[in-house]
Amino acid sequence: MTTSAGEVAEAGGAAPTRRAPIPTVKVQARGEEFRIVQLQGQLFVCTKQNGSCCCGWEEKGRLPFEPDALWGQEWERRKIRNRFHLSFTGCLGPCAAGNNALMQIHGRSIWLKDLNDPALVPQVFDYVQAMLDAGSVLPPPEALKDHVYERYVAPPNADFVPFAEEASATSGSDGLERLDPVCLMDVDPATTRHKIEFEGRTIAFCAPSCKKLFLADPQAYLAA
Ligand code: FES
Repeated sequence: MTTSAGEVAEAGGAAPTRRAPIPTVKVQARGEEFRIVQLQGQLFVCTKQNGSCCCGWEEKGRLPFEPDALWGQEWERRKIRNRFHLSFTGCLGPCAAGNNALMQIHGRSIWLKDLNDPALVPQVFDYVQAMLDAGSVLPPPEALKDHVYERYVAPPNADFVPFAEEASATSGSDGLERLDPVCLMDVDPATTRHKIEFEGRTIAFCAPSCKKLFLADPQAYLAA
């Protein structure tokens, strides 16, 4: 018995269930045409093995890991490769808060910080799986609440709901107590060898090159 185009039911049995086709997009590259699988999301994990300057560095107080042994195995175990990709990267930017990862899912960016406990890895993938199953973005579960924050400025759309309170980033400070104003790295003025007194305050730098750039044109690096 034919039940629908090309689908044949076994005699007396239920029609076989069809898997939804994997969505693809046609792209041209180097004069050839390819079909690329369209994903629901991707996780970018900052790793020492890919050139991070802090994440994964035990000597800097971060959880060391071999990407495949921790994140990779958990991702493979979930069998979500065709829906959600995993990539290992170098520095994502907010080194002071590392270990860091950036999740893109259903069009939303979710920043994860302080991933310094191996138990967080399955919890991150549980969160991913819950959003894949729901087909929508969900607020972070309790276990990840302290690890999610909004790094990007909210998009100009009234529907945007932040996942985390903006922890008084604008509490009367421009952040330069701990921020190199040139490269925006976290720098502790108590320990850095590169600092100056400028307009009645101490400004710290991560390296002499940043200090030199600042001194050449301080106003270019100070908030308006
Ligand atoms: S080293 Fe990981 S965010 Fe910079």
